Amino acid sequence: MPGRFRPPSALQPTASRPSALVVPRERVGRYLFLPDRARNMGIHLMAGRGSGKSRLMGRVIGWQDFVRGVPLVVFDPMGATIDALLDKIARLSPSDQRALRVPSRLRYVDMAGGGRVVPFPLYYRLGDESLYEIARRFPDVVRKVDPQLERAPILGLNALVEIATKAGMVLAALGYQITEADDLLAHPELWEARLRRVVADYPEAAPAARFFLNDYPSWGAGERSRQTGAFSAKVELFGLDPRARAMFGASVPGIDWAEVIARRQAVLLDFRHEHGLERRRFKMMWAFSYLFEFIKHRGRARSGPVSVIVDELTELTNFEAMGVDLFAKELDALINVYARNCMVWLTLAHQEAFQCDERTIHTLMSLGTQVLGVTTDMDAALALAKQYFAIDPLRVKRHENVWGHDMWRGDYVIEQRPVEFTVEEQHYLSAEYFKRLGLFEFLVRPALREGDITGRVYPVSIKNLDRGQWVDEAVAAEARGALSTRAGVPVAAVLSEIAARLSTTTPRSLGILEGDGHADDTPVFGERATAAARARRR
Ligand SMILES: Nc1ncnc2c1ncn2[C@@H]1O[C@H](COP(=O)(O)OP(=O)(O)OP(=O)(O)O)[C@@H](O)[C@H]1O
Ligand SMILES: [Mg+2]
Repeated sequence: MPGRFRPPSALQPTASRPSALVVPRERVGRYLFLPDRARNMGIHLMAGRGSGKSRLMGRVIGWQDFVRGVPLVVFDPMGATIDALLDKIARLSPSDQRALRVPSRLRYVDMAGGGRVVPFPLYYRLGDESLYEIARRFPDVVRKVDPQLERAPILGLNALVEIATKAGMVLAALGYQITEADDLLAHPELWEARLRRVVADYPEAAPAARFFLNDYPSWGAGERSRQTGAFSAKVELFGLDPRARAMFGASVPGIDWAEVIARRQAVLLDFRHEHGLERRRFKMMWAFSYLFEFIKHRGRARSGPVSVIVDELTELTNFEAMGVDLFAKELDALINVYARNCMVWLTLAHQEAFQCDERTIHTLMSLGTQVLGVTTDMDAALALAKQYFAIDPLRVKRHENVWGHDMWRGDYVIEQRPVEFTVEEQHYLSAEYFKRLGLFEFLVRPALREGDITGRVYPVSIKNLDRGQWVDEAVAAEARGALSTRAGVPVAAVLSEIAARLSTTTPRSLGILEGDGHADDTPVFGERATAAARARRR
């Protein structure tokens, strides 16, 4: 059993210096760095409620990546990791912030959208993708978000995939978005000229266009609603809410991952204000797949690592719904194929093992670095104990007397014989360790190098990390507000662009937005917030 807490090698300051960005000399060495070789194999962070996961990801992992100039993408359903990171950045002096190029590198995205949205159009092209590939993304994500569909294959899933793919190919060919799907389905006759153009100019989408020219108009109202019902229900998820409509209906994506990587930005995707359960899951899944589509497309990375942090991973998995979890299947490929080959430094966090299905846990346990905290679940504690604590076959529980007897002495003790703990007893004792871990205490099994995960475990505490520094809600809120006003585009502008699109015959074609104009000369982030925090602390 691990004894005293001692500083673990994985979280100790190492000689590795920030690679590209300037960190003030006096600060180097006060930062903690995880060795890169441990990062490439991923980090799984599993610990009970309130044990310090978000703090660890925001103030250690995400922070290190940001400081070192590793491009970073944070998926945060509750916002705790983002706040921890923002709080840490807001405490830097203005000159340190300028040195880190905070204003141009930090991109905060409120995924519920306020007055502005960062667009995530459903139809976008990577490289020379076919229209079919472009159109298939939406139904693929819908399937992952709503596994119930698998149980209603005929008029649920199959119809949805068919209509979504055909409509998607036509819309994408013409430069429209999902926001025009309603119009296409309701008035196919008004689309005749456009559909003929698709047949003439886009042979690959010709069958889909012919479907809307010939077959679909002949369907009666009942047939139409039966066949398109499942698709329309999913489109309504965001079709009715203006901000979601703007987010998914804009012509070009607001985030260009190539730019994020080139400029070593940190993209903080905050889902905390999206309260609709299904919409939140859709948004998370869409943003996640938008990133991984890019990563797969990019292939083997030559431009260095990308750090991806997912807090509350169970928001993406679907265990409680039913057995079929498509995301769980994908996660395995993501971790074992793409993350390792494409230099994605994954950090995946969640609370308890029982929130995930067995396959997902198994996959997560295969990540190189394991950071394990308290659990309330005896089964999980036992499983961890079996995996991480060795059995000592000679560990003595007590000594028993061995009795002898003879006519002179009567009964007497010949010797004392040790009784060893059974294997099962040792597992139970070790399991107690995981049930008794305290606030900010973890057991870390760092990956040593590629393929070598046999290393030992270390007890780690982040109690003393930024001792006494807690997220100042007011400062964090102000920082988020300031960053939001710089991100994305006004909702009203996107909505009028969408409205105008239908009246033009040649809308803008699929493309990627140029950088959204962040410049280094904008005011340093958090300057006001920092001043406010300082004043409050005084
Ligand atoms: N202002 C504060 N003063 C003292 N302790 C605080 C303060 N703010 C947060 N904490 C402590 O930090 C812990 C929360 O840390 P963190 O959010 O990182 O946990 P978590 O593991 O991510 O939790 P969850 O599973 O709920 O997301 C809480 O348990 C709380 O004790
Ligand atoms: Mg948390």
